[in-house]
Amino acid sequence: MKDAVFDDFIDRLRSQSDIVSVISEYVPLKKRGKNYWGCCPFHHEKTPSFSVTPDKGFFYCFGCQTGGNVFNFLMKLENLTFMEAVKKLAAKMNVPVPEKEKSEHERQVEREMAGLLKANATASDFFHSCLTKTGYGKEAREYLRGRGIDDETIATFRLGFAPKAWDKLTVALTGRGFTAETLAKAGLAVARTGGDGVYDRFRDRIMFPIADARGRVIGFGGRVMDGSQPKYLNTSETPVFNKRYVLYGFDLAYQAIKQAGRAIVVEGYMDLIALHAGGIKNAVASLGTSFTLEQARQLARNASEIYFAYDSDAAGQNATLRALATVRALGLSVRVIALPDGKDPDEFIRKHGADAFRTLMDQAPALLAYQVSQALQAHDYSGASGKMGVLAQAIPALAEAPDLAEVNEHIRMLSQTLGIHEEDIRREIRKVQQKDKAANRGQNSSNAFNLSQKLAPKTVAAERQLIRLMLEDGSIIPYVQAELNGEDIQGGERKTIINSLFTAYNMGKSPAADSLAISLPESAATELSNIMVMEIQLSDISRVVDDCIRIIRVARLEPLIMVHSQRAEEFLRLGDESNYRQELAESQRIKDEISKLHHS
Ligand code: UTP
Ligand code: MN
Repeated sequence: MKDAVFDDFIDRLRSQSDIVSVISEYVPLKKRGKNYWGCCPFHHEKTPSFSVTPDKGFFYCFGCQTGGNVFNFLMKLENLTFMEAVKKLAAKMNVPVPEKEKSEHERQVEREMAGLLKANATASDFFHSCLTKTGYGKEAREYLRGRGIDDETIATFRLGFAPKAWDKLTVALTGRGFTAETLAKAGLAVARTGGDGVYDRFRDRIMFPIADARGRVIGFGGRVMDGSQPKYLNTSETPVFNKRYVLYGFDLAYQAIKQAGRAIVVEGYMDLIALHAGGIKNAVASLGTSFTLEQARQLARNASEIYFAYDSDAAGQNATLRALATVRALGLSVRVIALPDGKDPDEFIRKHGADAFRTLMDQAPALLAYQVSQALQAHDYSGASGKMGVLAQAIPALAEAPDLAEVNEHIRMLSQTLGIHEEDIRREIRKVQQKDKAANRGQNSSNAFNLSQKLAPKTVAAERQLIRLMLEDGSIIPYVQAELNGEDIQGGERKTIINSLFTAYNMGKSPAADSLAISLPESAATELSNIMVMEIQLSDISRVVDDCIRIIRVARLEPLIMVHSQRAEEFLRLGDESNYRQELAESQRIKDEISKLHHS
């Protein structure tokens, strides 16, 4: 159920607050054109790419692609929930917040989340005191001491121990009023098969509580003390624990990351703890090998440079390196800390000390340099097949690296080292790039992240401009709707925006950016903020609209020429005359259609 009074209050609060003056409290802004500009508070930069548009009420950073309205700004900058941001803004403006009338469902969800957080916090206290204060924890204390973990570190990370029994935690927590159902939902207990009740999920394990950005315990990792499997048991997905978003240690590292403008990412619990204990506090752990886009975004808000210190075997894996290339595509600079002889950061620091780790950081190569040196190391390139091996491994990396100067430097070096002409290397790189481009065109919005990177800038600009014009002047929507459909839009987020815009319009609403933003998924809402801060020209709208439509249609058709000509070639090779002709005719038809569009 909707609470109209409250929604109305939120709407008024947003429209009456002055986004420029709110943001100015945190970021010095300068007026340029219609917008205000400053250095982005969500990533480190020296030239301003953060812009605020006062009449639309949006901000957007062209560097790290963070954007939104005044509430989103406060939420992101101060790590607040929506309600907290509302209260903060209302307090700034000296207006009382009306009680929000919550629906029964909302209340239920809130109660459940609060219950799960409370159960996790209580369990964390229980495990911690088992480790530090009881006889159960004796062996675990010795284990930790043996690994060089002192009492101060145990306290900082609230490390704990889950006793070797089936129901110690369950008994303790049900005694404090938690239901078996809550314990099971929090991932702390497991329902007994063929009987009632639950038993403890974590038994005879060292416990590492995992907190969210605000320091609230949301889950655990538990390590065995012998060689049994699994080595670590982790909380599985729960309503409060979503692995894709979790960065172990972020709550403790947040300030240091912001201050340094750089973050170190390691794989494991123990690695993270060793770094912090060694005074390197801007480190987080990704807990497992794959680093997600969500984790990258969280770091991008606070740092511009990310160092990866993965186990040397894992960092050498192409899958990991490709994940890092994705992070780099967010505009972050990525460096790889190469750990010698198969060690992980924990073992390295224990053996050589934290200062030796700092030295490794200072020497850490950029991702591309690391990839190229890995390719050289992996092959004996004295012979022709070794040289080919190096190129086969290095070229995909060179093809996707964004910094041309850096790419050129490596092409020169490889040309000299391998005795191959630079031009031959460049040709191979172009081939890979063309293939990637074609593959990206064929993809759908599920990989919007890559797609929007690879689409021609002209097409992206046309899609953005068209959306903006429809929001400025709703009367053109039916025209655009007749000329294009959502499928013609190739940018995933923009496709989402256009489709909800059309839907809203078709339901008789006049679509406005702010109400649209609320119903969109985060990535699309961010793209919408970008679109709303663009400077546009409002004269001669109908010509501009036609131009945009033409560019979008041509961009949709052009790759099809390639598809049909390739098919034609293939049929020719197979001696299939009739299909060859058909494909050729189709590719000609598309060419004609494009040339008609150009002359219309
Ligand atoms: P590692 O096997 O490298 O362990 O896994 P580690 O972190 O060095 O731990 P120690 O030093 O042996 O105690 C790296 C990370 O992968 C996840 C954990 O987050 C671990 O820290 N992992 C590993 C699991 O979740 N489960 C496992 O069984 C193993
Ligand atoms: Mn380890």
